[in-house]
Amino acid sequence: EVIVEDIIKDILLTEEEIEAKVKELGKQITEDYKGKNLMLVGILKGAVIFMADLAKSIKIPVLIDFMAVSSYGNSSTSTGIVRIIKDLDCSIEDKDILIVEDIIDTGLTLSYLTDNLKKRGAKSVKICTLLDKPDRRKAEVPVDYRGFIIPDEFVVGYGLDYAEQYRNLPYIAALKEEVYS
Ligand code: PRP
Ligand code: MN
Ligand code: MG
Repeated sequence: EVIVEDIIKDILLTEEEIEAKVKELGKQITEDYKGKNLMLVGILKGAVIFMADLAKSIKIPVLIDFMAVSSYGNSSTSTGIVRIIKDLDCSIEDKDILIVEDIIDTGLTLSYLTDNLKKRGAKSVKICTLLDKPDRRKAEVPVDYRGFIIPDEFVVGYGLDYAEQYRNLPYIAALKEEVYS
C-alpha cells in the first residue's frame, strides 16, 4: 500500500466501488456495440488505468488506440485550443469511436477531440468518462457513458494525478487543500 495519509482528505471512491462501476459500464457498452466496429480511444495519461479495466470488461471485439493532447495553457487563459502530441496509429474511417477519459472537468479537451475525430470520418464518436465534475464545465459535451458525478474537489488515484504523482492509487481520493493551494 502506498503511504499517502498525509496528503489525502478522504477516499471518494473505493477500489470495490470503481470495479463494480467499470463492470457495469463494460456490460452496457458490450450490448450497445454488438455488430459495430468499436474502437476505444484512451486519452493519455489519465485514462490508462480505466482503459485497461474497461477494455477487459467489454466482451465483443475491440480495437484499442491512444492519443495524447497538450493541456490548454494556464488556468487563467483557457482558450479551448488543444494540441495533439501523439495521434492515433489506426485509421478511424468506418470506426465507431468511444473516447475513454478518466475525468471531464471544463470539457475543453473532449469538446475539441470529439469534433476533431468526427471531421476525420469516424462513423460515430461517443464519450465514456469514469468521472464527471459538472461544476467546472465551460464547454458542453454530451456524455454517453458516465461512471460517477463528483463534487468540485481535487481528486487523485486510478490514473488521476497531482503533479504526475498518485496515479497508481487503486482508489480515488480528494487531496487536502493545503497540498495544492
Ligand atoms: C486531465 C484529465 C482529462 C482532462 C480533463 O488531463 O485526465 O484528460 O484533464 O480536463 P478538461 O475537461 O478541463 O479538459 P491532464 O491534462 O491533466 O493530463 P493527464 O491525463 O496526463 O494527467
Ligand atoms: Mn487526461
Ligand atoms: Mg493531469
